[in-house]
Amino acid sequence: MQPGACGAPVPGSGVAGARVPFARPDRHIPTLSQHSDNTNKDKSFPPNPRSRSSVPAPSAVLSTLRQVPFFAALPELHLEQIAASARQKKFPKSAVIMSQGDETDSMYIIASGRIKVVISDEEGKEVILSMLGPGQFFGEMSLVDDHPRSANIETMEVSEFVVVGKEDFKRFLAQNFDMSLAFMRELVRRLREADKKIESLALMDVYGRVARVLLDMAEQTVDGQLVIKRRLTKQDIARMIGASREMVSRVMKDLVEMDHVSFRGQAIVLHEKLAEAAR
Ligand code: CMP
Repeated sequence: MQPGACGAPVPGSGVAGARVPFARPDRHIPTLSQHSDNTNKDKSFPPNPRSRSSVPAPSAVLSTLRQVPFFAALPELHLEQIAASARQKKFPKSAVIMSQGDETDSMYIIASGRIKVVISDEEGKEVILSMLGPGQFFGEMSLVDDHPRSANIETMEVSEFVVVGKEDFKRFLAQNFDMSLAFMRELVRRLREADKKIESLALMDVYGRVARVLLDMAEQTVDGQLVIKRRLTKQDIARMIGASREMVSRVMKDLVEMDHVSFRGQAIVLHEKLAEAAR
């Protein structure tokens, strides 16, 4: 059994007696003002720079927050204040962390693991909007516009998160221009990504769409090769481009035969020809 499974305390979570919920846990996250471990929080506005929290934030929380550009833009003291009232959570693979339509009051930063952002219809047909990993965040949209959650979030592997409450987030955003700018930059980056996806859905054939997804997901190795190291199933690709799994299988087979991609164990190696064909 995974540490933290079935509501057991998470070792090293830094939250005394923290329990790990599984089904629809987002609904049970109390607001920061309800946290029993939140007594050291400076609620003043603007936060008083002299009122350092008496309990130091766990360094793992701080280092996770520092990976996010808009939190990294905060002065160290403010970052420590956010970290002091943030919570840590851990979920097993395939857990639903947020459900489309939920009301809520927090955003999540991925400390480890991987999640997918999914939209589904009433018949269970799904579209994967994005896959996110360490240092990336989700749940910010409902914090900004007070609308219900726009998508479902599911873990793709065991994953750990730092959870920041709405009030804290908005308070620091309101008084830090650098943080606001960095946050806007991130939202614009996601909008550009969404534009690219719309373009490929509207203008490319299935080969082009598969190529785009592969190129987007690949990382460059030290020897300059483009490789997708993490497991990426044909079903995942199909759900990202609105095609059937069978169609994606056929396209992948053709791409291998055309020497556009090759498999190295679980990893997919992308060849130069693929990038040229996708242009
Ligand atoms: P929120 O609407 O609060 O909850 C669901 C989250 O999914 C949303 O905030 C975003 O963080 C995330 N999300 C929604 N659409 C996208 C997208 N196109 N790309 C990346 N993340 C998204």
